[in-house]
Amino acid sequence: MSQANGLATLAPPLPARLRRGSDFWLVFKKFLTQGTSIASFAPSSRVLATTLVKGIDFRTAKCIVELGAGTGPITTELVRRARPGTKLIAIELDPDFCRRLREKFPTVDIVEGDACKLDAILAERGVKEADHVISGLPLPSFAPRLREAILKAAHSRLAPEGSFRQITNMPWVYYALYKQYFRDVRFRFVPINFPPGGVYVCRGYFGNGKG
Ligand SMILES: C[S@@+](CC[C@H](N)C(=O)[O-])C[C@H]1O[C@@H](n2cnc3c(N)ncnc32)[C@H](O)[C@@H]1O
Repeated sequence: MSQANGLATLAPPLPARLRRGSDFWLVFKKFLTQGTSIASFAPSSRVLATTLVKGIDFRTAKCIVELGAGTGPITTELVRRARPGTKLIAIELDPDFCRRLREKFPTVDIVEGDACKLDAILAERGVKEADHVISGLPLPSFAPRLREAILKAAHSRLAPEGSFRQITNMPWVYYALYKQYFRDVRFRFVPINFPPGGVYVCRGYFGNGKG
């Protein structure tokens, strides 16, 4: 399908009988067949999702973009908190996850596509500014130029007070990586996740990984 991450080619959709089951089983089956491009064998926990969105002012947010939505644990939290006028856009590469997202979240703009094309996807929708960009992508395993392209595109669309938020299931390990791109990086540890994880909240993008 695509070599978006500079890693593995995503497999075609699963046969219908394998697409059924809980979100956990769907993610687990995808992880077994696709590994690194899925990056996690279980969906994020509710605690991780709430920690990720903590501090977002949903009263004023006009547009929030989610990258790598999977089966939607974070989307669930966004939908729960967003005001009716807030535009939610979720970009996900995998067709089976997109099908599930569309079933669960009819009010969210689900884009079956590559987050590396973030700029074009937002331009097509006339989105000039996003209040926050939230990423479930396995960004550390992306080729550096793709990772940089995503961060640069996110930055170019972010509102001045906006944030880039990234989940991880390897607590603290990639702090230095995000510090290469952002002046202000805060890590929030989330033990109640399978496996324990956390979130980075990043502001002040300054460039291409050189500091
Ligand atoms: C670690 S999972 C996170 C899923 C979900 N956000 C969660 O918290 O459980 C990473 C997700 O990123 C998606 N993904 C990987 N590369 C992508 C890309 N280039 N563009 C869009 N989605 C991508 C995978 O299909 C997978 O659903």
